[in-house]
Amino acid sequence: MERYLLKEDIWWVGAIDWNMRDFHGFETPRGTTYNSYLITDQKVTLVDGVRSGFASETLRRISTCCDPRDIDYLVVNHVEMDHSGALPELIRRASPVKVFCSKRAKDALAIFYAEEGFGDWDINVVGTGDEIVLGRYTLTFLEVPMLHWPDSMLTYVKEAKVLLANDGFGQHLATSKRFADEVDMAIVMDEAAKYYGNILMPFGNQVQKLLKTVGDMGLELDIVAPSHGVIWRRPEDIEAIVRCYSEWSSFEARPSVALIFDTMWHSTEKMTRAIEDGIAQEGVECSVIKLSKTPLAEAARAVQTCRAFLVGTPTVNNGMLPSVGAFMTYIKGLRPKQRLVGAYGSFGWGGGGVKQVDAGLRELGLDVIDPLEFKYVPSSEDLVACEEYGREVARRVKAWEV
Ligand code: FEO
Repeated sequence: MERYLLKEDIWWVGAIDWNMRDFHGFETPRGTTYNSYLITDQKVTLVDGVRSGFASETLRRISTCCDPRDIDYLVVNHVEMDHSGALPELIRRASPVKVFCSKRAKDALAIFYAEEGFGDWDINVVGTGDEIVLGRYTLTFLEVPMLHWPDSMLTYVKEAKVLLANDGFGQHLATSKRFADEVDMAIVMDEAAKYYGNILMPFGNQVQKLLKTVGDMGLELDIVAPSHGVIWRRPEDIEAIVRCYSEWSSFEARPSVALIFDTMWHSTEKMTRAIEDGIAQEGVECSVIKLSKTPLAEAARAVQTCRAFLVGTPTVNNGMLPSVGAFMTYIKGLRPKQRLVGAYGSFGWGGGGVKQVDAGLRELGLDVIDPLEFKYVPSSEDLVACEEYGREVARRVKAWEV
C-alpha cells in the first residue's frame, strides 16, 4: 500500500473513495479522498481520520510508516463523519493515544461516539495559538468556527510550513496522484470551485477572516494540504488557490451570466434561448443550465462564478416547477451575495411560478431585475422582448451594477 511524503516525516496516509457520487446532497462525479496525515516524529501523530469503512485502507498505509500502536497523538480538526467516522477503530488500534481537538469538537464527539468508547478516550482540548511539540516539529492550532462546522480547526506544522487545512482548499477528486501539480490543473480548479460553491459559499466572512489570520500570524505556506482531493505544493499553485479563495469569499465574479431553468412544454426553454442570444449579442459570456438535466452542484457553481443568474420556470399548480423549487431551496441555504438576478418563464392561466421565483430571489437580498413572463407559448415578438431582456442583463453585468 502506497504512502506519500509531503516533507520529511510527514506522510499522506488517507483513503481514496473512487465511488463517492453524492456528498451530503451534492453530486461528486469524480469521487473524493479522505486525507489523513501521519507525522513520524518523536511523538508520532495522526492528523485527521477517514470515513467509516476506510479505516483498514488508512491503517495499511500507516503500517508502511510505523506500527499503528506507535501513534501517540491524534488530532481531530473536524468531527464531520467523513473525517471522524473511522475514529473509534483508529483509536482502538493506536491505543493508548491522546486526542487533540477543539472544545466544540469534543462536545460533538461525545454525542457521535457515546456508544463507541468515547468515555474512554483521552481528549485534550486545544484552541487558536495552542501548540504541541512533537520533537523536531511543532503543531500550532487555529480554530476556524463555521468553516464549515462550529468545531472546525486547522493544524499548522510550524517548522515544515505545512498547513493541514482540513475542509479548506479541498476538492472532491479521486485520483492516484496526491499533488495538484501532478494532475490536470483545469480539472483541479474546476473541482475546487465546485467544492467552494457547494460547501463554503455561505461562509465567505469566515474565509476572509481565515485569510487575514494567516497573514497576521505570518504563516509561511510551503504546502497546503486539504482533507479532500490533491495537495497544493508549488508556490504558484498555493498562490492561485489562496487568490481564488480571496475572490470567491468576497463574491467577485466573471462578467458572465447563468440561465438556470426548467421547462414543461419548451416555452420557458424558448425564452431561455432568446435571452441567451441577447446576452451573447452584448458580448457577454452565458451558460445555460437545465435543472432536470444538470446536477444542482453545477448550478451552485455557476451562481458562485457568474455575476448574474436568471431563474426560469413555467407554472405548475400555481407555483414553480419542482426542479426549480429544489434549486431555490438549495441556493437560499448557500446565501450568495453581490449578484444580479431575475426570474422569467411561461404560464398557462393564473400564473404563479415566476412570481414565486421572483419573491424567493428578493428574499436573498440580491439586486433583482424585474421578471419577464409570457402566456402559453412566446410569440416572435415575445422572443424579441426576451432578447432585449438578455441585452439589458448583459449591459448591467458589464457595468457591474450589482
Ligand atoms: Fe470533509 Fe466537513 O467534512
